[in-house]
Amino acid sequence: MNATQTETAAPAVAGRVVENVGHGEVLERQARASDFGYLLADLVGDADAHLPSADPPQVIALLRRLGGAMAEPATSPAPPSTIPAAYTYWGQFIDHDLTLEDSADPRLQQPAIADPGLRPVDAATVRQALGNARQPYLNLDSVYGDGPAGDRSAAFYDGPFLRVGTLASPAPGQPVPAASDPAARDLPGRHPVTDPATGRTQFPATIGDSRNDENLVVGQLHTAYLRFHNAVVTAIRTAEPGLSDADLLARAQQFVRHTHQWLIVHDYLRTVTVPGTVDWVLSELKGLYLQRFPAKRGPVMPLEFSVAAIRFGHSQVRNAYDYNRNFGDPGFVAPRATLDQLFQFTGRGGFIGGAQTLPENWAIEWDRFVDKGDPDPRHFARAIDTQLADDLSVMRNEPRDLAGIQEHLAKRNLLRGYLLGVPTGEAVARALRIRPLTRAELLRGAPAGVRSALTSPELTGRTPLWYYVLKEAEVLTSGNSLGPVGSRLVAETIIGLMRHDPESFLTSVPAWGTGPVPVVPGGNGARTIGGLADLLDVAGVTAA
Ligand code: HEM
Repeated sequence: MNATQTETAAPAVAGRVVENVGHGEVLERQARASDFGYLLADLVGDADAHLPSADPPQVIALLRRLGGAMAEPATSPAPPSTIPAAYTYWGQFIDHDLTLEDSADPRLQQPAIADPGLRPVDAATVRQALGNARQPYLNLDSVYGDGPAGDRSAAFYDGPFLRVGTLASPAPGQPVPAASDPAARDLPGRHPVTDPATGRTQFPATIGDSRNDENLVVGQLHTAYLRFHNAVVTAIRTAEPGLSDADLLARAQQFVRHTHQWLIVHDYLRTVTVPGTVDWVLSELKGLYLQRFPAKRGPVMPLEFSVAAIRFGHSQVRNAYDYNRNFGDPGFVAPRATLDQLFQFTGRGGFIGGAQTLPENWAIEWDRFVDKGDPDPRHFARAIDTQLADDLSVMRNEPRDLAGIQEHLAKRNLLRGYLLGVPTGEAVARALRIRPLTRAELLRGAPAGVRSALTSPELTGRTPLWYYVLKEAEVLTSGNSLGPVGSRLVAETIIGLMRHDPESFLTSVPAWGTGPVPVVPGGNGARTIGGLADLLDVAGVTAA
């Protein structure tokens, strides 16, 4: 079957506001903004390029065993990588702007992976019945929603500014400094929502994607973007006081979006991919993505990216952080913040101690998260490897099922990949003309559970793509970046989506492509933004 001929593409529509949706819930309403598809068309329908479909219960058992063996032993945590810890959650924030599975078909809904009767769904059905609730452009629809006129997103705006939430008075501990407006550092619009079944009350924020209220670091990053937007509005207004609110908003949004995109290419991607990948993909006249999904059609989210390659970030998550002076050095409250606490201190986690917004002493100290030259190893992401932090095996805020699948991130990723027919790592490597990992490389250092799964007849030579991408990073880069297959899939997709988007900085401001860093417009001096740390500084969320 020729995949190109059979695919249908939805027209691109404006981004949607996705409210009260966690990873564990079925969407309340259908909000298909774009399609999913397969980047490597030649592999679609090729049985040799996929996990076997003849005996699904056997493959499911193997994937569960493999996922179960990926938990990092609490006694021997991985050495840190050279990637600052913030980049983990920046990746999550970027992914939430691009992809969110949504389907009316029960076989494709979130809980389906816990069903022991799961079987792979054919590619044509996946393309037809699985929707992406996000428009997959890096246009920050997770922040801006449908704009001030949008039904649900009107509440995000205060004229040209974005609303920001206020911290609650401090719980025990010391105040955490910020360069400006230190109280305005929570997500906005928190409101109590009580689950009638459990009587449990949560305080979700009113934001464009509730997944950004799932853990505190991504929540604080979303807050920083809100403040960055506001700083840009103020700078433009100072320089051009005559602009109408509508023009001011449009100008600020465009600058924020382009700066965000520039940073993703020149900071995020350059940090997480093998050196040379970004320049190589930028130099292609028409990269892999545009060859597959031409610009005249609506954008399509590749499953090889969303279900496998970009989920490398799950391995970067640490079990504990030197989060701020209260939960970290010098430890006014505790010597570190555990991952579980970072989930609790969110609207979805219900906070603790009766707080209904974030307490003042739980604001993040970003300087512990972004400095690439920091001598403190606690400030870096976990190495990208085939293990996941312990707390990701029993995720707070996720549904429970008898087999313990939905609370277990590694099992979920592997089973999702099988369900959706994602090709194997070896097949993808060959399609990209990259030497596949050898058997010895794949099994290097593997614990017994991994070894027995990967040497089974079903998985020999057919490694699940997500696992393969992690192993490649572990073996070839010591976990300091993705390996060649992961790097290509991530860079080709992200840069390809920007080239597909007629309004991205790559298509509409070509001079920005490889050249100068963005400069904050207006009267804010010649403030350049060459990396994530600069964006946080301009947002005023770092100490002066
Ligand atoms: C503490 C941090 C994180 C947690 C608890 C978490 C949890 C989850 C869960 C439960 C899912 C749904 C899995 C499934 O059933 O298929 C998911 C999906 C996903 N995650 Fe994460 N994640 C985290 C961080 C990240 C990071 C750092 C990245 C990337 C850099 C990432 C990328 C993704 C992507 C792309 C999806 C698929 C979204 C979709 O298309 O619906 N996540 N994550």
